[in-house]
Amino acid sequence: MRIGVLTGGGDCPGLNAVIRAVVRKGIETHGWDILGFRNGWQGPIENLTKPLGLKDVEDILTRGGTILGSSRTNPYKVDGGVDRIREVLAENEVDALIAIGGEDTLGVAKRLTDDGIGVVGVPKTIDNDLGATDYTFGFDTAVHIATESIDRLRTTAESHHRALVVEVMGRHAGWIALHSGLAGGANVILVPERPFSVDKVVGWVERRFEREFAPIIVVAEGAMPEGGAELLHSGERDAFGHVRLGGVGQWLAEEIADRTGKESRAVVLGHTQRGGTPTAYDRVLATRFGLHAVDAVAAEDFGVMVALRGTDIVRVKLAEATAELKTVPLERYAEAEVFFG
Ligand code: F6P
Repeated sequence: MRIGVLTGGGDCPGLNAVIRAVVRKGIETHGWDILGFRNGWQGPIENLTKPLGLKDVEDILTRGGTILGSSRTNPYKVDGGVDRIREVLAENEVDALIAIGGEDTLGVAKRLTDDGIGVVGVPKTIDNDLGATDYTFGFDTAVHIATESIDRLRTTAESHHRALVVEVMGRHAGWIALHSGLAGGANVILVPERPFSVDKVVGWVERRFEREFAPIIVVAEGAMPEGGAELLHSGERDAFGHVRLGGVGQWLAEEIADRTGKESRAVVLGHTQRGGTPTAYDRVLATRFGLHAVDAVAAEDFGVMVALRGTDIVRVKLAEATAELKTVPLERYAEAEVFFG
């Protein structure tokens, strides 16, 4: 038996740990051949392959990124993309695929399974916004990086009596903002799930200054002021359709400075949150996901995603996993409000 493995979407610490587990268990337990496809779905469309043996995964457990490369290619948006995948899999005698990715990659995995190609999904995203799993690997690492940054920014903010706005990732869900903000003792946390009042933010910032502490405001990149996006920036998007990073953080720092007369700075953590070595938690979760994905392939249980429920790894239908994004419930957000100001 030969199985293919690919990583799609934004990279995320822990991807290599999944690949390693798939290769180790696939070869050592089942005697399979493992064929890596490069650059997400571009690999099986354009026949970009990388055979994976035990040696190839020797030193990758702790390494960030993905040795297979990634892309946001969607075969359903490429002319003849799905037919090409079918041909390339047949040419390489690949019996099944393990697709490691977020919402888009897993959405494709679901459609391919419906179209008769056997795929097992592994959830990844630093955003932790995939439904049907309690956590995705990469999230813990991103929260650690953001928390460490908040700790560092606090001491420089205190020294200069400045407000510091820390913009973290999260276009649609505020999990990284909420967790890093709580862990870092932020004085305001702003998430996409709840439009924020600038007046209230300014009030919290002033209260903090009155107590002679420098305020730290953690804002998710997708958070919006009441009144909408047009207040924020031109809505300018890059060539890939993403609103440019640095929008809300910079805008809010300027609003705070204008309204309070206090110096304010914005720091956009950006892709530092996705780079580098995964935490121990993410390495373990990613490894367990990889091992269980191999079990699903061995059982020919396709159209499923491995998921964490409590401390157990279970299989859920890809349809369920991609049905809706897991955003921060407002009650969870409300827990943090006691620390604002
Ligand atoms: O989905 C992961 C993520 O890191 C988001 O938090 C962020 O909005 C987006 O990807 C950035 O994408 P790109 O790497 O394409 O700029």
